[in-house]
This record gives sequence, C-alpha cells and structure tokens, in this order.
Amino acid sequence: MKTELAVKPKLLIVDDEKPTREGLRAALEEHYEVWLAEDAKAAMNLLEEENFDVLLTDFRLPQEDGMKLIARAKSLAKPPICILMTAYGSEELAVQAMKQGADDYIAKGRLQIDELEMRIARALRHQNLEAENFSMRQQLHSKFGLENLVGESPAMREVFDVVRQVAASRATVLLQGESGTGKELIAKAIHQLSPRAKLPMVTVHCAALPATLLESELFGHEKGAFTGAHERRVGRFEQAQGGTLFLDEIGEIDPTVQVKLLRFLGERTFERVGSNKTLTADVRLITATNKNLEEQVKAGKFREDLYFRLRVVEIKLPPLRERKEDLPLLARAFLTEFARENNKTVNDFTPDAFEALMNYAWPGNVRELRTAVESAVVLSRGERVSLRDLPMTVRTSGGEGGLSTKAAPGSDLTVAEAEKRLIIRALKECDGNRTEAAEKLGMSRRTLHRKLHLYHLEGL
Ligand SMILES: Nc1ncnc2c1ncn2[C@@H]1O[C@H](COP(=O)(O)OP(=O)(O)OP(=O)(O)O)[C@@H](O)[C@H]1O
Ligand SMILES: [Mg+2]
Repeated sequence: MKTELAVKPKLLIVDDEKPTREGLRAALEEHYEVWLAEDAKAAMNLLEEENFDVLLTDFRLPQEDGMKLIARAKSLAKPPICILMTAYGSEELAVQAMKQGADDYIAKGRLQIDELEMRIARALRHQNLEAENFSMRQQLHSKFGLENLVGESPAMREVFDVVRQVAASRATVLLQGESGTGKELIAKAIHQLSPRAKLPMVTVHCAALPATLLESELFGHEKGAFTGAHERRVGRFEQAQGGTLFLDEIGEIDPTVQVKLLRFLGERTFERVGSNKTLTADVRLITATNKNLEEQVKAGKFREDLYFRLRVVEIKLPPLRERKEDLPLLARAFLTEFARENNKTVNDFTPDAFEALMNYAWPGNVRELRTAVESAVVLSRGERVSLRDLPMTVRTSGGEGGLSTKAAPGSDLTVAEAEKRLIIRALKECDGNRTEAAEKLGMSRRTLHRKLHLYHLEGL
C-alpha cells in the first residue's frame, strides 16, 4: 500500500529486541524514514532532537516502559503520533495506553505489516485533518492584521504606523496602557502582520501564576525538578518556536523570572527548570502591562536592565477618554457587530444615548465600551439604542467625568452593578490603595483583584 505523502514521514521504532527492530525497519522503510532506538532513554534523546511524525513503541522495554515513553513524547512541542505495541490479548493495557495519550495500539503477537501500515497511515491522516481544523479555527478566531482595529485619532494612527513598521522585524515590543485599551489586540496584529504569522502566537498571563509555576510554564521543567513535576514539560518558549510569545501583565513577574528573561533576551538561550541543558528558541517577544513600568523600576520592583531590553519598541496605548474622537467610531462598529450577532435591526443611537456615551469617562476603556454596547443592543427594542438601554453607570454619569457613585433608583440596580460602584467608591476613598480598599470592603485583596478584573476596573 502507498502513502499519499510526497515526503516520507519520519518514524521512530522502539523495541529492545534487535530482530523485531530490524524486521520492522525492513518492512516499513519503503514508505517511511525509519529510525531505531532500543530503550526509552535513547528514544527520548532522539525525540528531543528530531521532529518525528510517528512513534511506534513496544510496551515492554528495559527500565522505563513504552507507556511512560508515550506520555513523555506527548509533552513535546510537536508530539508525534504514538502507537503502542502490546502483547497479544492485553486489552486492559491498551485501554490504559489510550488514556495516556496513545493514538492507537496493536497486538504484537499477530502483527501484520499491512495492518500496521494501514493503522499508521490512518493515524497520520487523522492528525493532518486535525491540524487543518486547528488552523482553520485559529483563522476564524484570530483578528487579522489591522482591519479590526478601529481608530482615527492622531494617537491611534501613530500606533498603527508603528505596528506596521515593526511587524517585519524580530524586535521586542512593550505595550503599555490601561486595562481595556487594546494591548492584546495590537499584539495579535503585530504577529499577524509579521513573517511569523503562520507559526504559533503563544500567550501567557503572567499575573495568573505564582513565581515558581510561571518559571516552569515559560521555560519548561524536567521530571522531578520539584514536588509535583511528574512529567517533563515543554515550556511556552519552546512552544512558540519560530513564532511570537506574548507575555501579558509583565509588570507582575518575580525577580527570578526577570533574570531568566533578561538572559533570554541577551543570548536567546535558557534552560528548563531542573536541567542544565541549554536550549535556544527563535521567538519574538511582545510584552504588555497596565502598570507604569518606569515607576516600577524606580520603586525597585522591576529590573532596569530588563525594562530597557523589553522596550526596544515601546507602544503606549492612550486611554479612551483621551481620544474621544474614536468613541463614535468604536461605538458604531460595536453596534453593527452585535446587531448582526443578535439578529437585531438596531442601527443607531438616540441623541441622548449618544451624549451619555460621550460624557462617560470609560475607566474600563474600549473593553467597557464594547460590553456596554453589547448589552444595550441586546436590550434595545427599536431601530435605535436609547438611553435606558445603556448600563446604569453610563446613563447616570452626567457631565461629571464618569466615575459616578450616586445611588441609583433602586429597581434598576443589579447586584453586580451595586457591587461595582461600591468598589469604585472604596478605591476612590483610598486613593487607589488596593489593600486599604479591600479592607474597607471586607474582602480579601485577592477577591478584590478578581472583582476588578471581572468588572474591568483594573485601570483604576
Ligand atoms: N482599537 C480598537 N478597535 C476595536 N476593538 C478594540 C480596540 N481596542 C480594543 N478593542 C476591543 O476591546 C477589548 C479589550 O481589548 P484588549 O483585550 O486588547 O485590551 P487590553 O489592553 O489587553 O486589556 P487588559 O489590560 O485588561 O488585558 C477587546 O474586545 C478588543 O477587541
Ligand atoms: Mg490584555
């Protein structure tokens, strides 16, 4: 039987018995580029060095068994298709193997080369289909280039110009701006416009992980590197090979991780946690923060040398209240988007609704505007969004710059909205000090942090 692929897929056969290895090689080398290994260790070394399409391994191996080898192979950045060969009749083992990530299994006792070839070909076809689906899904979800970015203000035009200019290079980009100003969208645009667009863009939210986990998330770890590290793990740097790594909330990272990042930016090398093997990755780094990094540096919380390396290109996204000319464009773009999504005929704002939008300060920036327009579209009944369709905070903002904490006429106020206001008020009263505000509100700092995120108030 013939495989349909022009280039021979790369196949690694692992078996401790030489006759079996050689026999399989002879049978399969017409259609595959066959490599051999006699135990899990040798196999793993090969898997780390070369990209294999298929791993065919015996279950019974000296030291580490084939099932463990499969689990490790599946943690590689580009895992191969894994097929386990078991003794005849060990169904239970086979089921377990599938749970561990094996794509197929085959009983060795009655191994027929035809059947084996068919199984490999089937698994390969399946994987190709999955890869195609994945990239189609990615295309659907990813925002392409700049066409989804709305903005005509001089500040945003300048941002778009810089994005176009730097996309082609590998220069490290630092995006600064309040929450909801579009940092992630810009990061995606840079990746999409770059020659790396076909390779992965990997995003890590640095604030979401404690320091030790963040380090292994980024750089990977070896099995046993720390308690709980049961398997070797490939880090995000390796996963982003050839593409872009987007580190969000970079202002939050711990000094040990700062050192490792600094070294990567200098030498393009790193080590997995618990390993002394130096690895290298061709990765473009984009970082973002809603904190003022310069102030963090002055306060001794962020390394100055790292700061300089990160801001080879620096893009500052202005808050929405400083580019009010973009507001009508954005509001209309979101109106059209959500009207279509919700099958609504609404196509405009009433003058008073529009005025309220313009008067509000938008502490949550574009994200808050987008959410406000979405809910207004859903609530709207006619052709136009009216004042009463807008969220209470926006409606009652009047001309006083937005951060209204006035008590609202009872019935309209949802629990979430009431809570949001209490939080805004507490923060105002404590001059933005989160620890104090949390205390005042009777919640932990952590809970406050989560709620700020929930209500898009991080910028406060
Ligand atoms: N210029 C823009 N045009 C269209 N949509 C935008 C624009 N800027 C931001 N958005 C939209 O606003 C929302 C928030 O943007 P994004 O997630 O990029 O903000 P962010 O700066 O990363 O926020 P955070 O600091 O909270 O992570 C997204 O839904 C995004 O699509
Ligand atoms: Mg973001």
